[in-house]
Amino acid sequence: MHAVPSIKGAARIMRGLQRNWAGYAPILHRRSALITDALPPVRPKPVVFPAMPPDAHLGGWTLLAPGQLLLSPTKSAPFINGEVAFVENRTEPPSRAYLKLWEALFRLGRWPVAGETCIDLGACPGGWTWVAASHGAQVTAIDRAPLAESIAALPNVTCRYESAFGLDPATCEPVDWLFSDIIAYPTRLLALAQRWIASGRAARIVMTIKFQGETDHDTAEVFAAIPGGRVLHLWHNKHELTFFWQRGA
Ligand SMILES: C[S@@+](CC[C@H](N)C(=O)[O-])C[C@H]1O[C@@H](n2cnc3c(N)ncnc32)[C@H](O)[C@@H]1O
Repeated sequence: MHAVPSIKGAARIMRGLQRNWAGYAPILHRRSALITDALPPVRPKPVVFPAMPPDAHLGGWTLLAPGQLLLSPTKSAPFINGEVAFVENRTEPPSRAYLKLWEALFRLGRWPVAGETCIDLGACPGGWTWVAASHGAQVTAIDRAPLAESIAALPNVTCRYESAFGLDPATCEPVDWLFSDIIAYPTRLLALAQRWIASGRAARIVMTIKFQGETDHDTAEVFAAIPGGRVLHLWHNKHELTFFWQRGA
């Protein structure tokens, strides 16, 4: 926390620490805009996926009062206020859910590639399956509802029409990626993730934890405490979180 008598003074403190700053202005918009103008410009370009996440330093700041600056030279997300803008593909994916998986994989700095295998649970209409298949991976898409025809017809996509909860991981070949975007109660999704982790059949998991009504913080904490796992709220998440897990991490 810094006492800042002037706009120039606020900018001077931040410039003295580093170049790149992202401001958040829930209040004091005009004063915050003037401070932003006094700082070096930070204008990220829309991301063309696949890409590695930015590694340039970025700090965050906000004004608590006209003369009170709260700042942090580092942030948990390397984007301005967590926002990731992609150059979208408006023709191939059958739903906009692909943006959520793009963002998850962009944060990981890793995505399915040719020679890798994926299981996509709750795959319909096929946005996530399209992401994995479009980079050459072999995808088994599982849903009780059918995928969009254009996705089901891809040569590296196999469709299985069944419940993801009835699938015994022990009967599956090991996969490089387990994806899940199933709409279900968080406790059910937790049990599903734990079952796959215990089976040793998935090297990595990316799973949406969907909330219905109240946020289930207790279950989110259990997800976050799984060794090798972490839970993030992505820019493209709505009333949901994304669970990442990697074997041996
Ligand atoms: C949000 S949609 C998935 C969107 C998808 N990821 C995409 O990119 O197009 C959730 C899906 O979960 C599926 N689902 C719900 N319960 C399921 C279950 N028990 N087994 C398999 N799929 C299930 C629904 O049929 C629905 O298609």
